[in-house]
Amino acid sequence: MPESITITDNRTGQSIEIPIENGGVSSAAWEKLLPGVWFHDPGLTATAMTESAVTYLDGDAGILRYRGYPIEQLAEESTYLEVAYLLLKGELPNQTQYDAWSSEITHHTFIHENVRKRFLDGFHYDAHPMGMLVSAIAALSTFYLDAKEIYDPAAREKQIVRLIAKMPTLAAAAHRFSVGMPFVYPDNELPFAANFLSMMWKVAEPHYKANPALVRAIDVLFILHADHEQNCSTTAMRTVGSAHADPYSSAAAAAAALYGPRHGGANEAVVRMLTEIGSIENVAPYIEAVKSGKTRLQGFGHRVYKNYDPRARIIKKVADDVFEVTGINPLLDIALKLEDVALHDEYFISRRLYPNVDFYSGLIYQAMGFPVAMFPVLFAIPRVSGWLAHWSELLDQDGKIVRPRQVYIGEPERKYVPMDQRES
Ligand code: CMC
Repeated sequence: MPESITITDNRTGQSIEIPIENGGVSSAAWEKLLPGVWFHDPGLTATAMTESAVTYLDGDAGILRYRGYPIEQLAEESTYLEVAYLLLKGELPNQTQYDAWSSEITHHTFIHENVRKRFLDGFHYDAHPMGMLVSAIAALSTFYLDAKEIYDPAAREKQIVRLIAKMPTLAAAAHRFSVGMPFVYPDNELPFAANFLSMMWKVAEPHYKANPALVRAIDVLFILHADHEQNCSTTAMRTVGSAHADPYSSAAAAAAALYGPRHGGANEAVVRMLTEIGSIENVAPYIEAVKSGKTRLQGFGHRVYKNYDPRARIIKKVADDVFEVTGINPLLDIALKLEDVALHDEYFISRRLYPNVDFYSGLIYQAMGFPVAMFPVLFAIPRVSGWLAHWSELLDQDGKIVRPRQVYIGEPERKYVPMDQRES
């Protein structure tokens, strides 16, 4: 059986055979046979915009692998910084490589004083921290002029290190500002996740020591969120990056996409939904409202997972570890009941709607004391390493600028009408 498809243009009788390679068919052959006939693919549900070697995802089987390594093994055995290295460089680091990488990241955690004092401090007192983060990432491009040298390997590496290192500092700064607390400088004696928690929660103690179980939980959550192949924000990163914008501007676009409630804002929406449901008795009527199309079950469903999201399974276990330290989040019972009802209901079964990564992550963050507005920020901190891995891959592929086609459905040509002749 040939691994190919044949397309016939019934208007001309001409046929073309297109090989199926790695599960895809090239659009070039289609374009040759059918110039001017475009795929109409809203949301790019059937279009592979790129070849990529970063992350493998099988949504039917519930499989997620970074560079070939199953997410379950990475969550169990690795650290976020090691995963970031893996995503960016394709291989796990040896000890020498890891020490050098970790030291590089650690020594780039500080932000320019003007970013904080003049830029972040200029926001309105109740600014959303994710809005502040998006803007701050974009602003960094004006501080590092070598950011434009995207084909200089040393300059590219430097921006990658800077962005990964500064994300927790910017994130914590945005939080501290929004609650009127003074900025905390990075404590570079601490590992990545512990340093972030120190910048978040330190008050007057000389050294903030976070509970090791909570540090590990944050690190695992960072691993789980580090990449997810061609999701909306990564596609934004690739799209803006394809115009050869600098990595800060591209990452700001990606972060803006992540801000949306259908993407990185979903864990915030889950907690708001659980709070609105309020008690176990209200679960059944809420499920009915979802089924009648009045609302959606936040944290459920996924464009590519038509099975239990493997990250959600790991997060459930992380939740147990966190709740042992913080006490149980009172919304957990409602979440468990919702999941149980939904997983046995024909509406959700037939549409293959399962809990996604965001269903439980918000409960963990809330139990750890993070305000809901910080949830998308917590998602963005590690996702920057995935964005950068895709951005770097795109530049190495020398990819084309993203410039899709459209199916035009507007007016045909018509003559301009002067204002005084238009209908009132
Ligand atoms: N609750 C109720 N019904 C749903 C839901 C939901 N959460 N998600 C999908 N459906 C239904 C939808 O109404 C449709 O039904 P019908 O065929 O009768 O019209 C069917 O399932 C297919 O839905 P869709 O909107 O075509 O699916 P999609 O692939 O375009 O949307 C999604 C994916 C994630 C946007 C959607 O499932 C959703 O809105 N979920 C809630 C928000 C959420 O949890 N987002 C986080 C995603 S995971 C984090 C990340 O990777 O960014």
